[in-house]
Amino acid sequence: MSQPSRIAIDGPAASGKSTIGELLAEQLHYVYFDTGVMYRAVTWAALQRGIDLADEKAVTDLAERIHIEVTQPTVADGRQYTVYADGEDITWQIRRPEVDHGVSPVSAYPGVRAALTAQQRRIGQAGRIVMVGRDIGTVVMPDADLKIYLDASVEERARRRYREIRDRGEPADYDHILRDMRRRDRIDSERETAPLRPAKDAVIIDTTAMAVPEVLTEVKRWVHQSDP
Ligand code: DC
Repeated sequence: MSQPSRIAIDGPAASGKSTIGELLAEQLHYVYFDTGVMYRAVTWAALQRGIDLADEKAVTDLAERIHIEVTQPTVADGRQYTVYADGEDITWQIRRPEVDHGVSPVSAYPGVRAALTAQQRRIGQAGRIVMVGRDIGTVVMPDADLKIYLDASVEERARRRYREIRDRGEPADYDHILRDMRRRDRIDSERETAPLRPAKDAVIIDTTAMAVPEVLTEVKRWVHQSDP
């Protein structure tokens, strides 16, 4: 039995994908790649350029032209990586509430998805990677060696996002976060192109009542069990 080389982790917002994905990649000495960053970068760039997010053609053109790069962290400020869009460091800008709000409609555009999915597939081909998103196991790497789908109740996920924002020292309103989370869940899972859903062969883990170390142990059990 050999260790899976291409690992997909999917799930809704704040289900623990990025925390678990990063820890798992670190322990396996794999590359960690969070695909949500790319949809966020397109959204932020569109807002910056004054492009109406409802203008599908303009947003799609932007997604096809923009150069997004994700590197090792360049500043020790708690970031998991540094994100550049056309050379500008936008690592923290893509976490702003206006991006949270605008990213689901942007990621529902088929042309945006086609442009970003092509880049993600290229990145995945090298192997020894933990790739995190919504459609990694279903669309980006349908032949991944291991597919994990992390889930949690919407209330628990809103609590996690609330704590994350507060921990960064920013103001946060739980009810608002919960409402926005429900809206994003709906858009992400009802869109026609690559909707959020577990792949048929994914391992589904409900993390609602689980702490991070427990989830990591469970995921690692599957890593050591799976036979690509
Ligand atoms: O994981 P996240 O919250 O950073 O993702 C931001 C948005 O991007 C989310 O609303 C859905 C979308 N997304 C997607 O459609 N497909 C992916 N592979 C990753 C993210």
